[in-house]
Amino acid sequence: MTAVGIDALEIWTGKLKLDLAETFAPAKDDSPEKYTKGLGLEASSFPDTYEDIVTMGANAAKRLMDRKGLEPDDIGRIDVATESAFDNSKPVSTYIAGCLEDVYDGDFHHANKGERKFACVAGTQSIDDAYNWIKAGRNRGRAALVIATDTALYARGDPGEATQGAGAVAMLVTENPNLVELSTEQGYGSADETDFLKPNQQFPSVDGKRSVQVYLARMREALEDFESVAGRTHPDDFEYIPFHTPFPGMVRKAALLGFRHMTRDTDVEDGLADEIGRQPRRDEYEDWDAYEDAIRDYMDALKETETYDAWYAEAIDPTLTLSRRVGNWYTGSVHVARASALKTAAEMGRALSGERLLVGSYGSGAQAEIHSETVADGWREEIDALNIDEQLARRYDLSFEEYGRVHDAHNHEKERELEEFTVPSGEFVFTGWGRMNERKYEYVD
Ligand code: HMG
Repeated sequence: MTAVGIDALEIWTGKLKLDLAETFAPAKDDSPEKYTKGLGLEASSFPDTYEDIVTMGANAAKRLMDRKGLEPDDIGRIDVATESAFDNSKPVSTYIAGCLEDVYDGDFHHANKGERKFACVAGTQSIDDAYNWIKAGRNRGRAALVIATDTALYARGDPGEATQGAGAVAMLVTENPNLVELSTEQGYGSADETDFLKPNQQFPSVDGKRSVQVYLARMREALEDFESVAGRTHPDDFEYIPFHTPFPGMVRKAALLGFRHMTRDTDVEDGLADEIGRQPRRDEYEDWDAYEDAIRDYMDALKETETYDAWYAEAIDPTLTLSRRVGNWYTGSVHVARASALKTAAEMGRALSGERLLVGSYGSGAQAEIHSETVADGWREEIDALNIDEQLARRYDLSFEEYGRVHDAHNHEKERELEEFTVPSGEFVFTGWGRMNERKYEYVD
């Protein structure tokens, strides 16, 4: 069977930065540790006033096409995953294709374009669509361009404000990919939930505490569903486990739950038994509450063990290095986590070809999806080509007052002030609105 997966990716961060410990915490009269230790975040990426989901997506896509030497004719499909769209009819992919056509010879008239919506899981769903399109033999030798792009802004004063972010990940899905091959097996956990939504409004309505519980419940379902087709999972099967990362503290909770699940009835549980006992089994408890209390006690003990700590440091922590510095990018978040892990491996000089990742995507509303990936032989070259560290270092560091102005500039309800903080160069920028209220863009050399 032909391998299909992600051949290459590029990341584009919003060009501004809100430092959570230095700038946000003091203004909120909070301890910096709430952000750095509790949520696990150092900073949020923020879009400058000339940036939006189209510019970030087009800029990531252009970097990808330039690096891979691609022309529009090489791409047969452009799917954009976003939950920050500004149009209920015309998809963001048409705007992005329009931007790219301005700078390349040829056009994308032959390309199937769309926009995917299911909160943060839509990026992974778009990769799925591309995978299925190629597997069905409909791609005529062409690649799919999948772009996950979001300005993840919350209303001022919302508890989610600390987890904001803005950026895009452009991915090329092809046969015989250089980066990772996707498994055919997938697991889903999907239910009608009211935890985070935007009913025709720009900023989300969020039940923050509940959203955390819904994430965990759907992720557990997805893992069980994945195992029903792929067989039992064991921590040793996977080098890294990138999760959707609204903030690293969320992943801390999900990873503990996953480790407990994967180690039940295994050598790992046996090895830990003397230290913390065996995992509670439902049939050992008369009522559900007592069972749940016992599970909680076991988890509290488990997270203090050296075994768990070592696994977390190796399989999970490397997936969080970028998220810590950029916040939640919604649809792009799990793809940033994968890139983070591979980037850390490259920096450590690790040999990864043929090794496996377990990828846990999630979108509020709610759906989790789990699949595995096999790292391909060309992964190192692809990861070494990323320039995300330079982009992050170049971000303009906002004061709290400036942050308020940029937030207002991106608030659709407010009069827009277009004063910019950085000077665009070699990128697409937003220039204003046209006669039908469409958004206008141009490329700045
Ligand atoms: P909050 O209520 O302000 O924070 O917001 P908190 O009081 O719960 O504190 C956060 C953590 O910091 C806690 O850790 C505190 O103990 C700790 P935990 O108990 O949870 O392990 N803490 C400290 N630690 C050390 N030193 C200190 C200190 N102070 C506190 N001094 C909340 C938290 C998640 C509610 C908020 O950020 C929020 O509403 N976020 C938005 C929703 C969200 O991200 N949910 C995640 C799951 S849903 C999801 O991932 C989907 C999403 O991406 C959207 C989509 O799919 O489209 C959001």
